[in-house]
Amino acid sequence: MTAPLLLAIAGSPRRHGNSERLLDACLDGIAEGGANAEKLAVVEYGIEPCDGCNACSSTGECHIRDRMQEVYPLLDAADAIVVASPVFFATVPAALKALYDRCQPYWARRYVLGEPPPERKRPGALLLARGGGDPYGFEAAAITTRSLFAVLGVSYDAELCVSGVDGPRDVDGRPDALAEARRIGAETASRAAR
Ligand SMILES: Cc1cc2nc3c(=O)[nH]c(=O)nc-3n(C[C@H](O)[C@H](O)[C@H](O)COP(=O)(O)O)c2cc1C
Repeated sequence: MTAPLLLAIAGSPRRHGNSERLLDACLDGIAEGGANAEKLAVVEYGIEPCDGCNACSSTGECHIRDRMQEVYPLLDAADAIVVASPVFFATVPAALKALYDRCQPYWARRYVLGEPPPERKRPGALLLARGGGDPYGFEAAAITTRSLFAVLGVSYDAELCVSGVDGPRDVDGRPDALAEARRIGAETASRAAR
């Protein structure tokens, strides 16, 4: 049997900051758990926002010819998906939200064009980092991601919310959080292998 493939999405526009460091710890856990992983840093892809044209409700495809076209096959091939993101104005940053919105063709294929749901949901996890300087928490970022996972046929199995990290390496002072990210990685790998 071949090892499962996990897609690890780094959602921050700041490379190698807190959420991506959580993701890297998670990737260590994924390797320990015997799975392969591909890391996708969304900021490198320059994904255009959805233009709301609704063409995908007829064709099942997105008409925008940008690097999101490279992301669709990765989303399709993944046996599990982990998203790591900072909280920006209570939800996920624009570059990551653009990826989420460009998943509208999955919604259209299922709910407009009648594609059957997957027989089995794929495992999924979310890792969030935020400064914590406001009272709005993680809820909006988590709900937004749950909505994406539902459309992709991914279950929301694990969530890690780390508050009080703002400088790019602040999370290095939180070994508890990094250990938990690693544990989530190993657990997600083992779920994907079942
Ligand atoms: C544009 C912007 C908006 C932010 N909005 C919030 C917010 O709503 N709540 C919060 O707690 N922190 C907020 N922050 C702080 C980030 O969540 C924090 O710096 C986080 O550690 C960044 O993660 P990263 O290093 O992975 O990019 C914001 C930061 C920026 C740059």
